[in-house]
Parts: sequence; structure tokens; C-alpha cells
Amino acid sequence: MTTLEALHLRKNYEIRGTGLKNKILKAVDDVSIVVRPGESVALVGESGSGKSTIAKMLIRLIEPTAGDITLDGERIGRGRAATTRYRSRVQMVFQDPFSSLNPSLTIRHHLTRPLRIHGIVRNRAEEERELRRLLESVNLGPAAAVLAKYPHELSGGQRQRVAIARALAPRPEVLIADEPVSMLDVSIRLEILQLLDDLKRERNLAVLYITHDLATARHFSSQIVVMRHGRVVERGASGDVILNPIHPYTQLLVRAAPDPHSEIFEIDEERFRLSPEVLITDIDPGPTPDASHWARAWTDDPAAAELLASV
Ligand SMILES: Nc1ncnc2c1ncn2[C@@H]1O[C@H](COP(=O)(O)OP(=O)(O)OP(=O)(O)O)[C@@H](O)[C@H]1O
Ligand SMILES: [Mg+2]
Repeated sequence: MTTLEALHLRKNYEIRGTGLKNKILKAVDDVSIVVRPGESVALVGESGSGKSTIAKMLIRLIEPTAGDITLDGERIGRGRAATTRYRSRVQMVFQDPFSSLNPSLTIRHHLTRPLRIHGIVRNRAEEERELRRLLESVNLGPAAAVLAKYPHELSGGQRQRVAIARALAPRPEVLIADEPVSMLDVSIRLEILQLLDDLKRERNLAVLYITHDLATARHFSSQIVVMRHGRVVERGASGDVILNPIHPYTQLLVRAAPDPHSEIFEIDEERFRLSPEVLITDIDPGPTPDASHWARAWTDDPAAAELLASV
């Protein structure tokens, strides 16, 4: 199984100044992270600290300015074929299931595409079986109904389940989840995180969980890496980082958290186990925003658009 390693990653952005000189923004400044199979590492830090920039480098949406990314110690090659191979092993779940799913395409389309591109299925019969398996693995059903739907016909939570199924389609070994629940209704956040946790265990996935939420970082990840201004300020076993923060910034984060010692740590895990199927017909997707929202969100998210165009 696969260990993802980022070594001394840097990403500089040139910011156009008013004078002659452009400024360099060190969005990510010498960050190393290791994520091992069956392990979840949480990346936390304030807005703008460089978390998504790291995610984008790890999924190869942007090139690092410097540093290495390796899978089981092997560097990844350049070029389209190497990127496709890499993405069959490392996949990503985006924050916003509104914009990461194309509103004009059915769920069937979203899930079939990666199966074909990554050569997971050889014929139609295998494809149907695999589509069903994927939906089952994220507890969505009945398959025929879900596959025929468009993203806007699903609730936010259901859409994120589809996005997770799509990420699982190439049978990746590493999953990067960039704030996977922050756009979702509070009431369903935990069940989506629990789903990711179950999948991690079942498939021995290496998971990088990016979040602002220290409580879920501690609950779902064994390691926490704290970032500020592009740099790692503290890292360690989750319990240690939250209960015994050493860096003043981490202490501040822990103090500012609504209640990092709150009930989430006493979660009755069974409560958040899912029923075998979240029947699509059981859930009211809520009011339907007008379609232009998705069109806008979709085109506004070049990272998602680019990734989807190339996966
Ligand atoms: N394409 C870009 N060009 C210039 N600057 C950028 C670009 N992308 C990101 N940045 C800057 O890099 C820094 C890190 O951004 P990043 O999106 O990684 O932060 P983040 O930790 O994910 O924040 P958030 O919690 O709000 O998602 C920010 O200052 C951001 O403005
Ligand atoms: Mg971000």
C-alpha cells in the first residue's frame, strides 16, 4: 500500500505590485507531510495559511515551485499519461459539491468517466456492476434512480457522496479531502466524515483531511499538522496537539475553537453508523436554487473544472 510523501514543498505566487517590483507570496513555504496507508492526517490552520495550495500540489493541479512529491518513495513523472496514472492512485474530494459536479451531466456520467479513463472496467456489464458497487460504498441507492439524476436533484450530502464515489472510482490509495463537509448542513457533516473514516479503514486509504475544525480533526485523524502563513508551526499526535499545544498559534486556535473538548470526543460512534442505504427517495433535497447558481459555481471553480476535464 501507498505512502504519500511531500518533501520541502514550496509554492510562490507573484503578486503584481503597484511599483516596478512584483512581490512574491510564499503560499507554501517548506512543508513536509507524510500520509501512510490506513492513516488520516489533518491539516489545520487559518484561512490563507496554504492548506488548499498543498492539496492542489498533491493532486497535481499546480506545480510546486520546489520540493518533491513521492508515492512509496517514487517520484511522479511529468506529462499527461503520468498524471493520469498518478490520479488513479491519488484522488481528491473538494469542498463544494455544487461546483465539483457538472450540473449538466448525470450522476451516471460523473461516475462512468473515471471508470473508463482509468481502465477499471472492460465492458458494459462490468461497468454496471462497478457503478452499483460505488454507490453502495457511499450508501446511496437505489442505483438506477441515483444514476439517472442530475446533481441539482440531490441534496448537498448526497452530492458529496457522489463526489466521494467518483474519487473512489479509480480505486485510489490516497484520498485528499479539502474541507469536505464545510459547505454541508451541520446535521449531516458527521455522517459524511464517518463515511470517509469507514472507507479509510475498509480500503486502507491514506487520507489527508483539510479542515478548520479542530474537534473533527482530532476525532478523525491520528496526526495533526498546524499551518500558519505557509509554514508548519506544530505537528504531532492529535490528542497531544489539541490537549497540549506547544506553539502559541496552536494554543490560540485551540482557545478559539468553539469547544474542542466538547461532545464530539464522546461521540457514540454507533449513532453515526449509517443505515445500509440512504434511500434517495427518503431525503428531501430542499429548495432548488436556480440553475444559474451551479453554472456560476461550476465555472468559478477553475481547479475543479480543470481536474474534471482531465481526470
Ligand atoms: N493562484 C493564486 N495566485 C496568487 N495567490 C494565490 C493563488 N492561490 C492561492 N493564493 C494565495 O495563497 C495563500 C494560500 O491560499 P490557500 O487557498 O492555500 O489557503 P487555505 O489555507 O486553503 O485557506 P482557506 O482556509 O480559506 O481555504 C493565500 O494568501 C492565497 O491568497
Ligand atoms: Mg482552502
